Amino acid sequence: MKIITILGARPQFIKAGSVSREIICKREAGCNIQEVIVHTGQHYDANMSDVFFEEMHISKPDYFLGIGGKTHGAMTGQMIEKIESILVKEEPDWVMVYGDTNSTLAGAIAASKLHIKIAHVEAGLRSFNMRMPEEVNRILTDRISSVLFCPTQAAVDNLTKEGVDSWQTDTSVVLSGDVMQDGALFYKGLAQKPSNLNIAGDCVLCTIHRAENTDDPQRLKQIISALNEIAQTQQVILPLHPRTKKLLEMGEYDTSNLSIIDPVGYLNMVWLIDNCSLVMTDSGGLQKEAYFFGVPCITMRDETEWVELVEAGANVLVGADKKRILDAYHNTKSSSVVETHSEDLYGGGKASKRIVKVLLNG
Ligand code: UD1
Ligand code: UDP
Repeated sequence: MKIITILGARPQFIKAGSVSREIICKREAGCNIQEVIVHTGQHYDANMSDVFFEEMHISKPDYFLGIGGKTHGAMTGQMIEKIESILVKEEPDWVMVYGDTNSTLAGAIAASKLHIKIAHVEAGLRSFNMRMPEEVNRILTDRISSVLFCPTQAAVDNLTKEGVDSWQTDTSVVLSGDVMQDGALFYKGLAQKPSNLNIAGDCVLCTIHRAENTDDPQRLKQIISALNEIAQTQQVILPLHPRTKKLLEMGEYDTSNLSIIDPVGYLNMVWLIDNCSLVMTDSGGLQKEAYFFGVPCITMRDETEWVELVEAGANVLVGADKKRILDAYHNTKSSSVVETHSEDLYGGGKASKRIVKVLLNG
């Protein structure tokens, strides 16, 4: 059985790393399974791409398309064209796509036009905000996939509400759990402190890159101002996404108290999550990783796809309002109990095994 995996953005390398490891395991155990990796090039800096392949021992991509740093339409369109020619040549049984990026949608559309079965890992998530490019990508990808691997029960419920049973005869929904938990558990013991980073005791780990925050100067200003204020009393470490870096350089933002560093590899990131006392982010993945490591999280977005974390009290949604961000920070610091790990919300680290098993049986 041949699977073509389409990757392109940082979180996809981390997600696919766990599934690739399981595929190799099964192949070594004698199963007929082969993975061909296509890297679209959506993320291309060494610290946004290469580092994850090296650290997670993901096979070198069989194809590298070099399509990054473009508008949504140009990027997605060029990817579809190049992926299509690879699919025609390789004739895979499955195309596997992850998450909700432009690379995800391009892979799914190219496969769909050729009637190749699509496996969507991280299906069913919804923010119910159609202005987010990710929401459009994930809804369209789900609609044309054959197997929808859902990380949570909420994701399964979303698909049920959308009438998945009547979409097409061969669509199946599988509650696989979240592959990011597989990675977090596997790499926890291998975490490495970032070298050359001075950490002065209790710190906050922060990331900001969402288009809705970075492309709106008012939102970005409020977020940066709140973080800079927090950093007067507690170290705030901000591994800075290149998108945010470019925008901060173009405007007038006071970042003088922040510990800004370049994006770090996954082993450094796992160390930072495990050793900070609070995560503040607009990342999808980091919200869950905070939970996996028992760290409270403040999410600087208006909505989240990971609703179970908010319901469990492990995550607070604050949007991009400075006062709300600061209030949430002070509340979190003063509450002694963190409501985490009350139940296993994400499948317990066995998602990759479930996914590969379904593909081998199907
Ligand atoms: C993309 C995904 C988002 C995901 C994020 C993970 C879409 C629509 N968005 O957003 O869902 O959360 O990746 O990080 O697919 N850049 C570099 N070097 C790089 C990568 C990006 O300089 O290696 C800069 C370029 O100026 C680029 C910009 O960042 O134009 C934005 O990159 P892009 O991939 O379009 O979107 P992200 O914000 O990274
Ligand atoms: N991450 C990383 N280095 C960084 C910032 C993030 O390894 O400097 C990891 C993070 O731990 C998580 C993933 O990247 O596993 C999340 O990716 P990102 O926030 O870029 O995308 P999102 O999850 O929001 O789609």
